[in-house]
This record gives sequence, C-alpha cells and structure tokens, in this order.
Amino acid sequence: MDRKDVGILAMDIYFPPSCVQQEALEAHDGASKGKYTIGLGQDCMAFCSEVEDVISMSLTVVNSLLKKYKIDPKLIGRLEVGSETVIDKSKSIKTWLMQIFEESGNSDIEGVDSSNACYGGTAALLNCVNWVESNSWDGRYGLVVCTDSAVYAEGPARPTGGAAAIAMLIGPNAPISFESKYRASHMAHVYDFYKPDLASEYPVVDGKLSQTCYLMALDSCYRQFCNKYEKIAGKQFSICDAEYFVFHSPYNKLVQKSFARLYYNDFLRNCSSVDDDAKEKLQSFSNLTGEESYQSRDLEKASQQVAKHLHDIKVQPSTLLPKQIGNMYTASLYAALASVLYNKHDSLNGQRIVMFSYGSGLTSTMFSLRLNNGQHPFSLSNIASVLDVTEKLQSRHEVSPSRSCLSFTCF
Ligand code: ACO
Repeated sequence: MDRKDVGILAMDIYFPPSCVQQEALEAHDGASKGKYTIGLGQDCMAFCSEVEDVISMSLTVVNSLLKKYKIDPKLIGRLEVGSETVIDKSKSIKTWLMQIFEESGNSDIEGVDSSNACYGGTAALLNCVNWVESNSWDGRYGLVVCTDSAVYAEGPARPTGGAAAIAMLIGPNAPISFESKYRASHMAHVYDFYKPDLASEYPVVDGKLSQTCYLMALDSCYRQFCNKYEKIAGKQFSICDAEYFVFHSPYNKLVQKSFARLYYNDFLRNCSSVDDDAKEKLQSFSNLTGEESYQSRDLEKASQQVAKHLHDIKVQPSTLLPKQIGNMYTASLYAALASVLYNKHDSLNGQRIVMFSYGSGLTSTMFSLRLNNGQHPFSLSNIASVLDVTEKLQSRHEVSPSRSCLSFTCF
C-alpha cells in the first residue's frame, strides 16, 4: 500500500456562535483598558452556551467533515480524540462519536481519547499518523478530533478561555504531510496547571509558572529539533528554514514572545537569520543563564522588537482564529494551523510549517509539516473553502459579559 506523504488530508472546525468581546470583558471585570486586548493580545472569546459541550461540538464537526468531503463512514479505520474537558472519567468522547458510524455498520474503528492538558490533540494526531505509517494500517483513513471548552474561575485567567472542536482526516498523499524525522519532544513533571478538583471544571493554575514552563519547553524542543535537523540535513536549521511557525496559543502575547524566543535561540547559535543590527541589540543578553533569561523583561522586549519583521510574515497569519476564539486547549494549535491555511492557501505549495504543541503538566512536541497543493477534494484550496472561516466568524452573536454564561458559570 502506498504510504507517501502521510498527513492531514482534510479538516473542519466548529466553534460556538456565542462570544464575548475582550474589550467589553475588560470593562466588565474592571481591568485597565487594553489589558486583555493589548496586554494579552486577544480580540474575542467564544464560549459554550447551556445547550452545547465538548461532545456536541465534536459530533457536529465530525458530521460536517464527513459530509462536506463525502467520506463514507465505513472508510474510517481509526478515530482518536484529544480533550482535557473531562465529562466522564471512564467513558471516552470517542465512544459518543461512534453513534455517527452506527448506521453504516462500521464498528471496526480503533482508538480512544488522549488526555494531557492542551497536548492531547497532538498525541491523537501522532497516533493516527503513526498508525497509517505502521504495519497495522488497513488502508482506511484515520480521523482526529480535538475538542475543548476552556473556562477559568473569576480572576486574571478568565479572559484566556475559549471553546472549539476540530476534525482532521489522516492518510497518505496528503497536502499537509509530516516530515516525521523532524520531531522533538520535551516532557517533564510540573504543577503549572492541573485539575485536582474533579467536581469543578476549573483548573488550578499558576499563570506565571505556566508561562515559564511553556517557554522552557519551547527552548528545549527547538534545540533538539535543530540538532536532529542538522544531523539529517547536514546543515544548520534557523527560523529562515520554515515559512511559518505555528504555536499552541493560550493567548496571543505568549505567541509573540515564543517567536521572539526562537529568534533569541538563533542569536545564541550564531545563525544567519539574525542580522547585524539585531546582534548588537541582543549582545548584552548573550551571557544570561537560562533562568535569568526567562525572568528578563528587557530581553523579552528587545527580542520581540528585533523579531517583529519576521513575526509579521511567519507567525501573524496563524493568529486569526486564536485571537477571535481564545484558548481552545487541544484545538488551539490546529485552529492556528487552520488560520494559515485559510489566509495563505494559494501560496503554500512546497513550503514548510513548524508546529509547537504544549500541554501543561507538562508535555510538548515540535514537528514539521510540508505543504503541497494536493488534489481535489484533498487540496489546500478546498480545505480553506470548507473551513469557511469568514462566514463562521461573521455569523456569531456577541453577548454582553453581564448576560453571558461561560459553561455552567454565569457572570
Ligand atoms: N494595557 C496594555 N497592556 C497591559 C495593561 C494595559 N492596560 N495592563 C496589563 N498589561 C499587560 C502586562 O504588562 C502584561 O504584559 P507582558 O506579558 O508583556 O508583561 C500582560 O498585560 C498580562 O498582564 P499580567 O498582569 O502580567 O498578567 P495577568 O495577571 O493578567 O495574567 C496570565 C496573565 C498569567 C496569562 C493569566 O491570564 C493566566 O493565568 N492564564 C491561564 C494560564 C495560561 O494561559 N498559561 C499559558 C500556558 S499553559 C495553557 O495553555 C493553559
């Protein structure tokens, strides 16, 4: 069986039609003007009303993807779900989705749920890709679903909520294929964000620690990614070797800082991606210890400033949906990928996208995707058209923070 270019053949996204403007939320929360919009970099936050949850969102997105791409449900051989919004400690969301396959008589579908904060979707995706590349593959498609409703207790984390579900069809000859050798992970034991109270949907979160853990994991993945690339390709990797960088996006400011951090890494590795002017501006930070570098506000500012021109080209196209919807936990990274596909689908042929997935606790992986135009219906232009992002965003209704219900908790 042909196994070339295994990856994402098709994708669709569902997000709730109800949303809160971050500007209105700032005023409602008594936060200073600009704190959520400029400080966190967010525009709007989607939330599940009382008639939907992670299961209904995932049923909707899977039905939609199968219908729009005219996929016979019998052709799905593996279904993996990534989610951290636990509805039941034993019964998986995947089993709920099996209802979609009942009528066709297809019960021969491997896979269950993967759960580790925002990383579960990536675990599900890697499982499906590995399955198609393995001896166990039976020639059918894999299907990955990322579904989460991110809600926080009242306080500084609340504006970093959001909700969405994404479905991705996996198989060979994909327009978005994995460069499987270019993959690096960083896993560790940390309590930065966790859900010890099983009766509450809110996490316990140490916001500052989670930011540092995220950036430390990013550094570690990038270092190992570069080492592996250099061994295989025989040349140095720098941010100039990928057209786009797509990050897990809890809120936009962290994404800006993350790209600046990659730029700083390139500076420390003396890469040609860093010009002389930037070298001069970063010179005074060259001898900081790792720990000092995470705490340095001056370094953060200087590296964001020198990386800005590349950020605008290589990162900004991925920010549309995360800024409009908020943190979608497992779906967040893939909504950012969907934004690139939506914004740039007609110029992606032959290009590389580097992805960074982070889940608190912590698990993280950096991996590389290679794009080609593909063939209808599995083409980049059809993926962009099926995603139908503009229409989905425009048909939302804004709810005032005083009337909105974030999941079970009303303001
Ligand atoms: N205008 C412009 N900017 C402002 C304003 C204002 N009026 N007020 C504050 N700011 C800026 C701050 O300077 C800061 O910017 P900086 O990051 O460049 O320093 C930013 O807004 C955030 O303000 P802080 O006071 O530093 O942080 P806050 O107490 O609001 O908490 C946090 C932010 C930690 C992100 C919180 O929302 C949180 O805990 N979120 C959940 C955890 C999270 O998302 N972690 C990320 C990785 S793990 C995961 O994905 C869940």
